[in-house]
Amino acid sequence: MVDKALGTGGRKSDRDLKIRLKTAKGRKTSSTKWLERQLNDPYVARARSEGYRSRAAFKIKEMDEKHKLFKKGMRVVDLGAAPGGWSQVAARAVGSTAEHPLIVGIDYLEMDPIPGVTLLQKDFTDEDAPAALIAALGGHKADVVMSDMAWPTTGHRATDHLRIVHLIEIAADFAIQVLAPGGSFVAKVFQGGTEHELLHMLKRHFRSTFHSKPPSSRSGSAEAYLVAKGFKGLEPEITPVE
Ligand SMILES: C[S@@+](CC[C@H](N)C(=O)[O-])C[C@H]1O[C@@H](n2cnc3c(N)ncnc32)[C@H](O)[C@@H]1O
Repeated sequence: MVDKALGTGGRKSDRDLKIRLKTAKGRKTSSTKWLERQLNDPYVARARSEGYRSRAAFKIKEMDEKHKLFKKGMRVVDLGAAPGGWSQVAARAVGSTAEHPLIVGIDYLEMDPIPGVTLLQKDFTDEDAPAALIAALGGHKADVVMSDMAWPTTGHRATDHLRIVHLIEIAADFAIQVLAPGGSFVAKVFQGGTEHELLHMLKRHFRSTFHSKPPSSRSGSAEAYLVAKGFKGLEPEITPVE
């Protein structure tokens, strides 16, 4: 049942209206709570009115506003792209078009096409995924590699932690292989989830690293992002002299 309750105190305006849901027995289940949160979430409404496929779009938008990640003509790789909010934001920001696509996205979920975005339906942890992404970039280096990937949680904290750390590590390794000097890497990390070793490795390869919690990331969630800027470029391989 949908029920409109009035906000607390003061004049009762439309802005005070909050949608409250009740389950059949008047008891709230977690899915009812989730639906209620979605219905009252201003970012969900904004995503709909601005034509974004997800409220997540605002996270990369806010990080771009703060860290100046995108410029016209840049090439971007989106890891864990579905349903496509981040790719949409990136495509608009860099001016990617269907005739001259600059964004490559990957997800194991099927996605509806996005103009200006080349989409691969594939698991990023598959051995051949990096090569498929590099091929989709058409031999060009990327300027931004961004990852919003996360495994579904198992409920076992230690296992979940190890799985997310592994995912970030392979995303970071991939970023180092494909980024052009000066490029940026953005990855979902979860608070307390950026391992010392990983941070150390990123600090070696990038001029600056930040932890970011964009305003649109729900305050109750442990989600956070790592932003690494100013890729220093790959060190030339040293071949031993005979
Ligand atoms: C939070 S969602 C991304 C939302 C997206 N940034 C947006 O704005 O619409 C995370 C996505 O990562 C994908 N994902 C997680 N692990 C993956 C993997 N190993 N390979 C490919 N995609 C993966 C999931 O399928 C999911 O669609």
